[in-house]
Amino acid sequence: MSASAVLPNQPLHDLDEWDDFLEGRYKEGKSEEEFRVYDATATPGVAEFYRQNHENMTVDYVLGKEAEYFSLSKGQKTIWEAADFLNTLVDDSDPDTDLTQIEHLLQTSEAMRRDDCPRWMILTGFIHDLGKCLCLYGEPQWGVVGDTFPVGCAWSKDIVFHEYFAKNPDRNVREYQTKYGIYEPNCGLEKLHMSFGHDGYIAEVMKPYLRDESLYMLRFHSFYPWHKHGAYDHLCTDKDRSMLEWVLKFNQYDLYSKGHTKPDLAELKPYYDDLFAEFLPPTLAW
Ligand SMILES: [Fe+2]
Ligand SMILES: [Fe+2]
Repeated sequence: MSASAVLPNQPLHDLDEWDDFLEGRYKEGKSEEEFRVYDATATPGVAEFYRQNHENMTVDYVLGKEAEYFSLSKGQKTIWEAADFLNTLVDDSDPDTDLTQIEHLLQTSEAMRRDDCPRWMILTGFIHDLGKCLCLYGEPQWGVVGDTFPVGCAWSKDIVFHEYFAKNPDRNVREYQTKYGIYEPNCGLEKLHMSFGHDGYIAEVMKPYLRDESLYMLRFHSFYPWHKHGAYDHLCTDKDRSMLEWVLKFNQYDLYSKGHTKPDLAELKPYYDDLFAEFLPPTLAW
């Protein structure tokens, strides 16, 4: 671990520390009570990361980031170029034993492939975290990863480290503190402004090309309060409820497919070249 690894505004050693936290939090067979206990004893870096996220994720912040990134004006890239770009997000981990970002993506998609998941889902598995490149555009960790939630309405008690919302300035906007906030009852999850991060960004990049099931997996894969805890049903439509099973199916692979075996990129590349060409144009706007 190098001395410069943990900057004050970058409390995680690397983005994977958040993924590891999730995996521990949702270890299979864990009760809701154990889930709470885990939070209280979480590593200080993770707790600090959530404090920053919950205190800064306001409606104004989200609208600003949506305007900046959802216009997709960061240039054209192929999927491989985007993956290589994400791979430049090097942390100070040991390159011989730790997996690169591309290897992590391949582990997710290859686990789906072994289980005979549909081809569009395997593609979704490979691309789902490409939005983490937001870090390389200079976004802070708290604005890239973390559990997501809608802004502009009352925060669910099922959001992890809920207590850190006490210092979020939206606490003082009366409308944002009501059950429905700026939304209509059962308006549908797609109409919500979700806390900004890698999920929403990659969903916007892929929106013109992929089916709803895939876009729900991308856009809501970190929306744990909804897909793991059943929160925000009062904002859902029947479509959202029918998509939930796909998001849950995806989540199994996102949480539990990480291992230490390095996938052989050279051997796998032709399969993925075909897969990308089947669903996506050669280059995409990012
Ligand atoms: Fe993710
Ligand atoms: Fe992931």
